[in-house]
Amino acid sequence: MNTYYIETYGCQMNVYDSEIISAILQQEGLEEVDTPHKADLVLLNTCSVRDLAEQKVHTRLGQLHMIQEESNPSMKMGIVGCMAQNLKKDILRKKPYVSFILGPDSYRHLPELISSDGNRKRIIETRLSSFELYDGLFPARHDGINAWISIMRGCDKFCSYCIVPYTRGRERSRKPDSILEEAKRAVDKGFSEITLLGQNVNSYRSSSGGFPDLLEKMAGIDRLLRIRYTSPHPQDVNDDLIRVHRDYKHIICNHIHLPLQSGSNAVLEAMNRTYTREHYLNLVEKIRKAVPDMAITTDMIAGFPEETEKDFEETLDIMERVRYDAAFMFKYSSRPGTKAALLTETLSEDEKSNRLNRMIRLQYKHTLEKNRELIGQEVEILVEKESKKTSKEMMGRTSTNKIVVFPAMNYKPRDLIHRTITDAQGVTLFSSR
Ligand code: SAH
Ligand code: SF4
Ligand code: F3S
Repeated sequence: MNTYYIETYGCQMNVYDSEIISAILQQEGLEEVDTPHKADLVLLNTCSVRDLAEQKVHTRLGQLHMIQEESNPSMKMGIVGCMAQNLKKDILRKKPYVSFILGPDSYRHLPELISSDGNRKRIIETRLSSFELYDGLFPARHDGINAWISIMRGCDKFCSYCIVPYTRGRERSRKPDSILEEAKRAVDKGFSEITLLGQNVNSYRSSSGGFPDLLEKMAGIDRLLRIRYTSPHPQDVNDDLIRVHRDYKHIICNHIHLPLQSGSNAVLEAMNRTYTREHYLNLVEKIRKAVPDMAITTDMIAGFPEETEKDFEETLDIMERVRYDAAFMFKYSSRPGTKAALLTETLSEDEKSNRLNRMIRLQYKHTLEKNRELIGQEVEILVEKESKKTSKEMMGRTSTNKIVVFPAMNYKPRDLIHRTITDAQGVTLFSSR
């Protein structure tokens, strides 16, 4: 085997894992190619979080099977990631063209699979580990501005709707030294921004402290311009974390992603989110008091089982109170094996879609209003690349994670520049001076 091709679905954790997989395969002498037609090994790194994510993978598998039959018969196909567990039986019975399945904690098995021995049998390894952290492996990153670094794996929160604790297993944290070494290497390779990753990034624990301590250590890295992280859980946001944002504003970005999920106490309880709307709103107030210009973004689910119109309106009410800078919004999708899947769905797909659309409309309005408030203000921008439309313009991001488009001048990627916002359209800011 000489070449591999990998396609990644789902969250940033999977993007990071694909880089780990690439590192393992490259150590074995394989080279990455950009189409499945040319690859000896094709991998799909999958996601189970919603039904739609799984459907996408099924469709893609069918297409890859056709490519295999029509133009690349020697190609070997592997499924990795969060769907591995679920797909085990189905793949064994119905998809003989898939040669192996590996869950998120089993990537160290890859070398045996691509050796000639591994060709003989189909391998399924989906056991979850309580210690695998892929320490000592440095992800093979594609060039860019931002490097993702996973600092913990798994999730112990068990929100009732969520499959992640089952697909990724128990929470475990990396040692600070290993994280700092990976970060320094990324900076040496030219990355200017680091995003720390974890399903519950702020339940990070180590013998030398928690998540705020780790952020403080990261802030001391030479030549690193910006630090981001995602996703924190509201329950684990403490005064220390807020203080670190305030004290290290020059390097820790002015942005917190604070997943709300629902604004109704009854729904929050049924979701097992462990906080109330009052606690959440209080937290937002504390954050804004300490760092007034902090951007706040969120995740929300519309149409959880038994969500009444009044419950839903309480979510819209929190949106009005907080006025999020941006939000990821989802229609509830029942995941077999979770606690919520045992509840009877009280809403039709149409009703769920209708609520989702109302939510999206309100958020769109807030995003635009908040962005328009920036017109006339000077912002710091980390330059990323040429804009999509023309080489005469470039794009970059503010510390609050908003995209700004501006004239290319003589700017280069990685420059930190100051410009005035002159317009806001859709989710994008523009700066003509
Ligand atoms: N650990 C992160 C997010 C993980 S999944 C956190 O807690 O914030 C990303 C988002 O997908 C969640 O925040 C939630 O809004 C959404 N999600 C998870 N399970 C879902 C489901 N069954 N149906 C719809 N949305 C879901
Ligand atoms: Fe899922 Fe909740 Fe864990 Fe996030 S915190 S990954 S939503 S169980
Ligand atoms: Fe999906 Fe797994 Fe991430 S289920 S959202 S890829 S942790």
